[in-house]
Amino acid sequence: MNACNSFGGQIINTPIPYISLGNLTPDEFLQEYWQKKPLLVRKALPGFKGLLTRQELVQLAKNDEVQSRLAIKNNRQWELKHGPLTNRDFSRLPEGKWSLLVQDVNHFLPSAYDLLLKFSFIPFARMDDLMVSYAPAGGGIGPHYDSYDVFLLQGPGRRRWEIAADYDPKLLANAPLKILQNFKAEQTWLLEPGDMLYLPPNYAHHGIAVDACMTYSIGFRAPSHLELIIHFLNYLQDNLETDSRYTDAGLKQQANPLEISREMRQQARAILQKIKWNASDVEDFLGIYLTEPKSHIFFDRPAYPLSFKKFIKTIREKNIQLNLKSRMLTSRHQIFLNGETYKVSQPAKKNLSRLIYRQNLFSKNHSDDETGKILYQWYVNGYVVITDSI
Ligand code: SIN
Ligand code: CO
Repeated sequence: MNACNSFGGQIINTPIPYISLGNLTPDEFLQEYWQKKPLLVRKALPGFKGLLTRQELVQLAKNDEVQSRLAIKNNRQWELKHGPLTNRDFSRLPEGKWSLLVQDVNHFLPSAYDLLLKFSFIPFARMDDLMVSYAPAGGGIGPHYDSYDVFLLQGPGRRRWEIAADYDPKLLANAPLKILQNFKAEQTWLLEPGDMLYLPPNYAHHGIAVDACMTYSIGFRAPSHLELIIHFLNYLQDNLETDSRYTDAGLKQQANPLEISREMRQQARAILQKIKWNASDVEDFLGIYLTEPKSHIFFDRPAYPLSFKKFIKTIREKNIQLNLKSRMLTSRHQIFLNGETYKVSQPAKKNLSRLIYRQNLFSKNHSDDETGKILYQWYVNGYVVITDSI
């Protein structure tokens, strides 16, 4: 069954089928489980063998563009090393007492990007990344809780998951990771390759590798109110237009010059009350904020970019794809890409949106001037890349 998505009132078929949620439809899952309670899905991805080997994961962790962590338990003491990791970090690890976690694997592997697409019954605005972990038999990162929803898809090897809704939130003192001191499991499952466990935010969980195993965590983002407010205030600051200044002609000498006068307070209040925003500011802000690349992400511009004419000719013959690191969202008349906003017509929006599914959008009937011009800007910025095939 192909997945369906609503698109400006129209239903489009997405080329990537959703992950199985057992006998639940995405709607039923969202109604009964999402943000509410855990769900175990046996054979969510039957025959899943993982997308990369242990060696390839270690290689990624050594790359300085990749966020990775190596959690090590020496006796009862936890140690956490942040990437880029080195050969030395991997030498002399205590047997069965460590775990490697690599973030944003979807930025590097097309198959990992496609795996995220299997979860697009949740809006892209809520998606964060695919993290892949490796642990030898006995390894893990200890009992903890996360502030975000997560789907834990089991790759090669088996992992035992212990979970609890009710727990003592006390954390292990002086540990570099947040580890629950007194965790007691309420439910336990042994996950085999292809099985999946969904956990809502703040559910305590403890994953112990039964064999050397890899776990694929599909993580979501939910900004705190404070984060949203701070980023919105930054957005407003960038878009403020005023060159007026505080004035006080007719100033009266104050009895106490130390005191902030009533007049000054009133004038400041009147100035601050001029800060106004409307629904379209919120729309712009959300698109820009939610597609802003993480701070360690950079886009390589083509060293010798093609001319516009050559570009259009080339992508008719070859293929154009979103850079795997690009974040795209749309809203009524706009496309947001990597923290930038593009006002577009509905046909161009529809054409360009196909990039998210790694579809070849530039077939003869999708080419138009507007799409071509926007694509060219994205190509020059390194947000899309020319490839030979999908
Ligand atoms: C892991 O893969 O080891 C940890 C994933 C998680 O607990 O969120
Ligand atoms: Co976790």
